[in-house]
Amino acid sequence: MRLHVADHPLVAHKLTVLRNKDTSSPTFRKLVDELVTLLAYEATREVRTAPLDIQTPVAPFTGVKIAEPLPLVVPILRAGLGMLDGMTRLMPTAEVGFLGMQRDEETLDVVTYANRLPDDLTGRQCFLIDPMLATGGTLVAAINYLFERGARDVTAVCLLAAPEGLKVVEEAVGDRVDVKIVVAAVDDHLNEKAYIVPGLGDAGDRLYGVV
Ligand code: URA
Repeated sequence: MRLHVADHPLVAHKLTVLRNKDTSSPTFRKLVDELVTLLAYEATREVRTAPLDIQTPVAPFTGVKIAEPLPLVVPILRAGLGMLDGMTRLMPTAEVGFLGMQRDEETLDVVTYANRLPDDLTGRQCFLIDPMLATGGTLVAAINYLFERGARDVTAVCLLAAPEGLKVVEEAVGDRVDVKIVVAAVDDHLNEKAYIVPGLGDAGDRLYGVV
């Protein structure tokens, strides 16, 4: 697993406003969108391209286009939806799939309750988006799910990660280079309710209200 922590004053500033409990939902949504665009720039650094011949007003030119099969952006429901526009703004030709995952309270296993993804992901570069990498259980299940269907590589884009969750992902995927995590910051720890500390609270609730 490769980890990239965004180290940029604009990221740090926007993240501070997100963390503030007094920040309203509309401002929170807008800042998540802006932060994702900054993270997406880093996350897409290795997106595959193919040559494209064009004509400038002055001369022929061989540039690039995003290669097929097109990248797949996969928000993990519900909070991952708040990151979708930021990702697709930067990579408009990407396709979008959806994964709904939650923990079974009795078995503690991660259960997939919604899946709108192509069955065959052979050769696809996949971008999982989920704001909070807390225990790591959901992310590991999602990464396995994508690789079982043939994904070429998986990049997870998260706003905050807990060291405990990063360790879980690292133990699950080892040193494979086709798994990358791009995150705005790694926080201090998880509390007894599996909230990231200092964190920003429940990302889904702050984006969409408590439902
Ligand atoms: N999910 C959240 O939304 N917040 C946390 O702190 C941990 C998991």
